Parts: sequence; structure tokens; C-alpha cells
Amino acid sequence: MTSSPPSGSAARELLLAAAAAPARARGRSLQAALREAVRSGRLAPDTRLPSSRDLAADLGVSRGLVTETYEQLTAEGYLRSGRGAGTWVSGAVRAARPRARDLAPRAQGVRVGFVPGTPDLSLFPRAAWAAAQRGVLTELPHEDLGYPDPRGLPRLRTALAGLLTRRRGVVADPELLVIVSGVTQATTLLGHVLHARGVTAVGVEDPGSPHLDSLYPTTGVRVVPLPMDDEGLALGPLRSSSDVRALLTTPSHQFPTGIAYSARRRAELLDWARSVDGLILEDDYDGDFRYDRAPVGALQGLDPERVAYAGSVSKSLAPGLRLGWLLVPQALAKDVVERKRTMDLGHPTLDQAMFARFLERGDYDRQLRRCRQAYQERRDALVTALAEHFPGTRVTGISAGLHVIATLPEGYGPEERFVARVGAAGVAVRPVSAYRHGDATAPEGDPTVRLVLGYAHLPPSRIREGVRLMAEAAGSHAVA
Ligand SMILES: Cc1ncc(COP(=O)(O)O)c(C=O)c1O
Repeated sequence: MTSSPPSGSAARELLLAAAAAPARARGRSLQAALREAVRSGRLAPDTRLPSSRDLAADLGVSRGLVTETYEQLTAEGYLRSGRGAGTWVSGAVRAARPRARDLAPRAQGVRVGFVPGTPDLSLFPRAAWAAAQRGVLTELPHEDLGYPDPRGLPRLRTALAGLLTRRRGVVADPELLVIVSGVTQATTLLGHVLHARGVTAVGVEDPGSPHLDSLYPTTGVRVVPLPMDDEGLALGPLRSSSDVRALLTTPSHQFPTGIAYSARRRAELLDWARSVDGLILEDDYDGDFRYDRAPVGALQGLDPERVAYAGSVSKSLAPGLRLGWLLVPQALAKDVVERKRTMDLGHPTLDQAMFARFLERGDYDRQLRRCRQAYQERRDALVTALAEHFPGTRVTGISAGLHVIATLPEGYGPEERFVARVGAAGVAVRPVSAYRHGDATAPEGDPTVRLVLGYAHLPPSRIREGVRLMAEAAGSHAVA
């Protein structure tokens, strides 16, 4: 047995405050303090504690109280009694881990970040949300606080079906809607269901969303990257991938290239799905934001039996709400709902009820109008700033969403060097190549710089500053 001297003064110091607790709470207080001292490692394993008599005298408490504390913690396994006399810190206790760390991605040392994906979180309608929360807490029947229908509250599914029919042209039967925690969960749910039905491979857009694509392998389904052409996902490579029976697509605003699938390609993909008895997952992540015309309706509206439709509030309200929806073909509904049930027994009721109220009262439409106006202004500011500081830049993709694709004029490449240079000046940008499968860099020797620039989270003044900083950092590099 390890032998170390009694650590009388350490124990005394660690327990002194607890010993000063009111008499009624003193015993519990001493136990908690000693437990914490052992857990945190401040009293190391195999440290010998002072005798109960000495510690009681040091702390000015009764010996019985110290004996009781030692006995309790010995019973719990924090302390052990030596073979002869003496009490020791047990070697079995592992020091508690430090406080929870924040694992959310946060940019370090970034002055202006153009990395796409986030809406303007300061536009979150706090007052209307607070009112919805108060209203729901007042009116929600007690029974609604039980385990929810795994599909979601009927009230929310009805309101949401109305919204999606009206705004996105989907065929929305509330019975086929499942409230989920976002497109992420919708993708995972479908992956599991497809896997259970023998689907081994899902085709994904290349370039596409590395985050969503990475989810399928966790469900046992392989991902097959398929290239894009000017009209959408290219048909030739899809047709020659014989094991692909499902597709993940963003037809209203392809992520990241920003194109809208042509009507012809939409029809061709549906024909493909029918011919292989397949399924298309439509990720309508930012379909509400179109600035030059009314948004093109969702693909799902053309064939609800071949398309599962997913969306969320991550771009319209805040990704932190973790709230979204999945509209499934009748043939998959039972399996998807059962998966959702076994995954988490349904989405949190209060959040659902708040969102339902928010929709019913027109607050969501108001929020979309507000964001649309702000984002259009920001997009215009970005396009103008690019024209000023990088004349000759080509901005491609439809006037929609939260990001643009900017192809800089010749002379700024290679891409990697450009990104590193402006990054060193505090401007975070991502090239399109970062969203490609396989080798995520531009082909060697390619002088073109193609950037995916997110603008929605930045006020126009920051956008202008960011583009100016970017031009300053890259300026000496560009060939005139
Ligand atoms: C293409 C695409 N779809 C969907 C999402 C949103 O996922 P979720 O609804 O899980 O927040 C993102 C997030 O950035 C995205 O880039």
C-alpha cells in the first residue's frame, strides 16, 4: 500500500468553508466538499487523511460528524480504510472532467467571415417568439405535455402543411409530415429507412454539402458523388451508376453552385426515379428566399410518391432552434415514423407548439418578408462591392438564398494561395473546391478563383469592408 503522510493541512483548507455551514447542513456540506476535493483531484488518490479526532479539532466540529463523513464517503467508494488504522483517498476515483467545452465551430481571428450557412441571427424575432412562448404556456392542455405523436403535434403539422402548400407548392398531407430537428435528422432518418429496404448507395451532388453527404455512411449507405452540369445533376453519370436508387438534391437552389434545376432536368430526374423504383430527397434549405421573381415550386409537387421533401427554420429563424420537417411519400411513412419514434420519441412539444402558434398568427410570413428584404439588400451590396474591388468578377447562380458564387477575374489564383492570403488579413472565404468530393482542392495549375460567399449574416457595411480588405490583401498579387 502506498504510504503518504497525512495531509492534514490540505484537508483542513478544503473543508474549512463547509465546516462553517449552519449546524443543520454541516454534515451534508462536509461530505459534498470532501467528495468534490477527491473528484477534482485536489486530494490525490492514495492520500492519507488525518484522523477523525485531528480533523475535527482542526475544523472545530464534533468528531462524530467527521467519522460520519468518512463512513459515508467510504461507503460511496471515494475513501477506503487502511488495513490498520487510517483513512485514505481511494485510487478508484477518476478526476472529474473539466467543464463542458463548446464544440460549436467558431471562427478565430476573423474580421469578416464570408463562410456560408448562417442567417442573420440578430433578426431572430425575439419579441414574437417570447409572446408565442407565453401564449403556449398559458393555453397548452396538460395532456399535450405527455409523449408527443412521433410525427409531431397535429396542430403544427396542419399549420405547416398549409404554409408549404401555399409558399412552396408541395403536396402536403399533414399525415405524411414528420417534425424533425432539421434537414440533418431528415437525412439520417431516410438513410436508415433506405438501408433497411436494401438501398446500398445514394447519389449526391458534387459539389454539394459535405455535412449532409457524410450522414449516409453512418446509416450504412454508400455515397456516390455525381457531377453537375448547367441544368442540374448530370443524367449520364447517374444512369450509369446502377446501384444508386436514391438521390440527395437541392433543385430550387443547388448548394453550393447556386443554380436552379431546369424544368427539363426536374422531369428527367423524376423519370429516372420512376424507372428504378427510386427516391429523391429534396433539400429545400433556402427555398423561400428568391429575390428576382417568385420562388420556383418544389420538385415534390410534381410527384409526391417519388420525392421526400425536407426543410427547416435554420435559414429563416435560427439553426439553434433545431426544428425542421420531412414530408414523405405514403409508401415510406410508416417506416420513417417508426424510426423517428425509436430515435427520440418525438420532437419537444413546447417548441412545436410555439412554432405552430408562430405560423398561425402570420409571424413566420412576417419573418420571411423581413429576412428577404435584408438579404436582398446584402446580396446587392456584395455584388456591387465585388464589381468595385474585383472588376470583371462573374457572379453566377440565381438571385436567391444566402450566398453567391463569385469567379474572380484572372490573376488572383491559385485558389489555395488566395484563400490563405485573405485569411491572413482576417477575411474568411471558402472556395467552391472545398465542397467537392474527393480531393478538395482546385486542380493543380488552375488559376481560377471561385468562391462561395455567404452574405446574409453580414450588414452591408461589413460586406463592403470585407470585400475591401480582401482586395487589399490580394491586390499586390493580382495581375493587372
Ligand atoms: C445544403 C444544406 N442543407 C441543409 C442545411 C441545414 O441543415 P439543418 O436543417 O439540419 O440545420 C444546411 C446547413 O447549413 C445546408 O448547407
